[in-house]
Amino acid sequence: MKRLISPASFAKKTACTLLAAWCVLVIRISPAAESAPPPQAAIASAHPLATAAGYDALRRGGNAFDAAVAVAAALAVVEPYSSGLGGGGFFLLHRAADGREVMVDGRETAPAAITREFYLDSEGHPIRGASTQGGKSAAIPGMPAALVHVAQRYGKLPLGASLAPAIRYAREGFEADPRYARIASLRERVLQNGVNTARVFLDSGRAPQAGFTLRQPELAVTLEQVARGGRDGFYTGRVARALVAAANAAGGAWQLADLERYQAVEREPVKFTYRGATITAAALPSAGGIALAQSLGMLEQFKLSGAGQPDTAHLVIEALRRAFQDRALYLGDSDLVPVPVARLVGGNYARQRAATINPAAATRSDDLEGDKQVRAESGNTTHLSVIDAEGNRVAATLSINWLFGSGIVAGDTGVLLNNEMDDFTLRPDVPNSYRLRGGVANAIAPGKRPLSSMTPAFVEDEKGVLILGAPGGSRIVSQVLLAILEYLRNPQVDLQRLLAMPRYHHQYWPDRVEVEPEGFSPGWRAAIEAKGHAIQVVNRKWGNMQVVFKSRQTGAAQAANDPRGSDVGWY
Ligand code: DON
Repeated sequence: MKRLISPASFAKKTACTLLAAWCVLVIRISPAAESAPPPQAAIASAHPLATAAGYDALRRGGNAFDAAVAVAAALAVVEPYSSGLGGGGFFLLHRAADGREVMVDGRETAPAAITREFYLDSEGHPIRGASTQGGKSAAIPGMPAALVHVAQRYGKLPLGASLAPAIRYAREGFEADPRYARIASLRERVLQNGVNTARVFLDSGRAPQAGFTLRQPELAVTLEQVARGGRDGFYTGRVARALVAAANAAGGAWQLADLERYQAVEREPVKFTYRGATITAAALPSAGGIALAQSLGMLEQFKLSGAGQPDTAHLVIEALRRAFQDRALYLGDSDLVPVPVARLVGGNYARQRAATINPAAATRSDDLEGDKQVRAESGNTTHLSVIDAEGNRVAATLSINWLFGSGIVAGDTGVLLNNEMDDFTLRPDVPNSYRLRGGVANAIAPGKRPLSSMTPAFVEDEKGVLILGAPGGSRIVSQVLLAILEYLRNPQVDLQRLLAMPRYHHQYWPDRVEVEPEGFSPGWRAAIEAKGHAIQVVNRKWGNMQVVFKSRQTGAAQAANDPRGSDVGWY
């Protein structure tokens, strides 16, 4: 299904009360839309109704920040398995008027009463499922605070106007698409056994068929409370009490004070240059921007060809190996642990690390210098990219972690709680569900934000600006890295090509190169293996990248959606 709607075609779209797939297709192929002047604004998101909500905000006089709030809120309704009010995320903003760049950190936080022992048995072994299911898996949500913050600090519209489409989709319902049907069926058992999830997300106890109208009237009321009361509409009062009661009834240890205390935090993004391009990306508590800066810093020391060519792929893999080792060793919530960010992203360190890369042979992760102690599936997330006519931009990656998060809908709020506690490191030798290992820097602590891989990013070069990001757990970083390399290498911008290119990934541990099925020829694999890498062809393609590009020369903006969006539903 196509998920692009140009502003020029928006008038047509409004003729459709609820945007059905055929309607989007008609808009895409109509001659009028094709001959319209190139739009200066563009939005890419994982769902056509969410994209439409963003254009609605722009049409009402809102800016990219209002549009991002509208898209994010709508995604919470129409892609409830990926993100939502019960989750969190990062909004990377660029304000055209003064060039201000900031990351609004709406990452979830660990409740104050939580300790590592909640997840370990008396012998110190991890308790199966404790960090991924039920009340202990859920962290204090950050999404509502981030939405309110972005709207109030940076938007032009009242919050209620930006939330209106989401409220409408929740109350009136939307047509479940084949993706919803497939993901609900994949998680049918969890939804049948979860708290209130069968009632909210299933059709008479079974995964709905595509075409089923999914209504979430309770979520509509909660969104209205946020629209009216701002953050207090969620973090205090009736909704807050319902959240605490639900998390605790399912084994959690939430307190009202955890919610009252929650704040979205403004952070300075990670910003660096790579071969003349300027790259801005997520800061801690996401590891993404640092990993990008480190990988590209190492790759800058080499002459590269296309990222798909085996010799270059080998270098990319080695750079990722080193960046993910550092992630495991050093990264965590910098509000609570010291993290040597400047050193890690600095040029000297990149040169030192690059010098350990052998262009002819893989370094075994076990042999890579570092603290050996720290040698150090299944999720979903969503990304949106927006630019408006003034040049304000947003890249936001949002998540409840696994598909349908912890499987707990809190009471009558319609809010599905995340299972983001699994992104903490329980023990250095215990990987999380993305097989990521870590160290003390990412150990569980009260009020701490778990380390993330979400990597919303901007790339600026002489061609223009690219806004991108993706879901995919630890594979987010390699997806964004490959897309940046591909974008910078080509004088012509071809977003579809950028998105379609096959993906590979390495994350230090496990020590293997994961590759998408069908993407790589036997010759490619043989060349990589000849350098000493183990290759694992995984079952499914991964990611659902959303990109927007605005040309410096023409001012024209375009959006594109990952072709995988319609088939993947699992990390
Ligand atoms: O913050 C993180 O890194 C993860 N919770 C993101 C999860 C994710 O991307 C799953 N997606 N398919």
